Parts: sequence; C-alpha cells; structure tokens
Amino acid sequence: MRAFAALALAFAPVALALDCNGHTELCDRKYSNVTFMGAHDSSFVGILPSDNQLESVTKQLSGGIRYLTAQTHPKDDAIELCHTSCILLDAGPLQDYLGDIKAWMDGNPNEVVTLLLTNGDAIDINKFGDAFKAVGLDTYAYTPGAELTMDDWPTLGTMVSNKQRLVVFMDYHADTSKVPWILDEFKYYFETPFDTTDKNFAQCTLDRPQGATADGRMYIVNHFLDIEIFPGVLIPNLADAGTTNSMTSILAQTDLCYGQYKRTPNVVLLDFVSIGDAMKAQNDLNNLG
Ligand SMILES: *[C@@H]1O[C@H](CO)[C@@H](O)[C@H](O)[C@H]1NC(C)=O
Repeated sequence: MRAFAALALAFAPVALALDCNGHTELCDRKYSNVTFMGAHDSSFVGILPSDNQLESVTKQLSGGIRYLTAQTHPKDDAIELCHTSCILLDAGPLQDYLGDIKAWMDGNPNEVVTLLLTNGDAIDINKFGDAFKAVGLDTYAYTPGAELTMDDWPTLGTMVSNKQRLVVFMDYHADTSKVPWILDEFKYYFETPFDTTDKNFAQCTLDRPQGATADGRMYIVNHFLDIEIFPGVLIPNLADAGTTNSMTSILAQTDLCYGQYKRTPNVVLLDFVSIGDAMKAQNDLNNLG
C-alpha cells in the first residue's frame, strides 16, 4: 500500500504540470481569452517580393507561433496555396502544407494550433475536408456541437486532453453542415483593416464583417505592413519588419485596441514572424511573465 501511495505521489506532479502552449496558466484559459501572435500568409516563404515569411511553417511552429493563415486557390483539380493567382506565386498544394502541420502536431501533443484559411474562389468545402482527411489532420480538429458564444469556448487544457487541438476557420464559403470542423471565421471574429501602408497602425477599426458589431466576437488585428511599389501594387514591407514587429509597434496598436474594445485582441497577425518580438509580445498580451 505504502509503495502505491508513494508511486501515486511521485506521479501526481507530472499530472499537475500539464502545460498548454508552453504555459501551465494557459490550460485554464478559454480559447476565446487567449492572445495568439499569428503568421499571416504563413505558406508564402522565401525572399521573393510577394513572400510574407522567411521561415517554413514547421519553423514558425517551432518558434512558438500557434496561429497560421493561408490563402487558397484552385489549380487543376487541387487546392493550391497561391498568392492572389497561381501564376504570381504558387507555394504548392494545400495537402502538403497540412501534412507538415500534422507532423508537427504529432510531435507536440500539448499545443493548440489554429489555421485560418481564405477561400475567395469559393472552392467546394468538401474538397477542403478531403485534403485534411488525406493527411489525418481532421482527427485533431476541434468540432463544436453548435455555434459557440465567446463564453462557450473550451479551455486550452480541455482541448489538449480531448486531443481536439486544431481550430480551423475559413473566411468565406465555410459550411459546417458539410464539414463541421471548418468554422465560419466571421461568425466568430471581426478583423481590423489589412494591407495598410501606415507604419503607425494608428487605428483599430472594425473592417470585416462590414456593419457588424464588436460585441460577442473575438478579434483579429492585422499588424502587417505593406509598401506600394507601383501605384496600386502592394508587397509586404520586409525592410521595416524589425520596427513593425517590435514590442513598441505591436503594443502601441494593441493598446489602442484595448482602449476601444476593453479587451485584448485574440489574434495579432504579422508578416516575417521570425523578425522582431512576436513571442515577447504574445507573453505580454497574455499577462505571462
Ligand atoms: C481575458 O480576460 C481578461 C479578464 O477579463 C481580460 O482583461 C483580457 O483582455 C482577456 N483577453 C482576451 C484575449 O480576451
């Protein structure tokens, strides 16, 4: 008996020390009350003018990023990660990208990851479902029983222990009656304007969904800077990434947002996440030391 008690005691600290996304404190926080620094256009990796990131998605995840966005377009019969058009920049099939995320999540069982996909070309939602299934990523997908209010969201700890720790959103043409785990972004979030060329990010305006109210929605702050190289042609501003992704610049905008909405943003999207203070800002915004 004594031996068993001692064993139980020896194991107890392990159970207590569960951490979620690197922090014990986050296990008790609802998903809707956590701030994630996100990699905008996470799949456009390289040094071409239209690339948004310098490091692979796997490296972004290893570096602490848990919120990824990706743009999709149709190519032949597949879903491809292209920038505006597949002629301009083609980062390969969605399925390969999902495979990389699956592999990383397999090796990191205490991490909650979010994927926000764009679907401006209205590709059939079942095709997205098939791409997830092909790599087994659907098995990690968080599937709410019904549409959630902000208060209904589970804690990160619950998501980790239930092994439903991938949250998937889509901007347009989601249909949960067909694929129940691809959630309609704008039912859950509002976003501030994107593609700004204002280095000061001197706004926290509700841009999409148009005419919506902030109440009851989480929110995404688009803190990535573009530069206009020709009239009407915008590319990610790599030269200023150090300043844009500094604590000073990020917190100046999130403070403005806090003043306006009386709560911290849920997501702050950055280009070139490997430059600057993304992780420091994430800890700060989550009140973690
Ligand atoms: C989480 O809740 C605290 C306490 O209500 C609040 O101050 C903070 O802004 C919230 N953060 C998010 C991301 O909702």
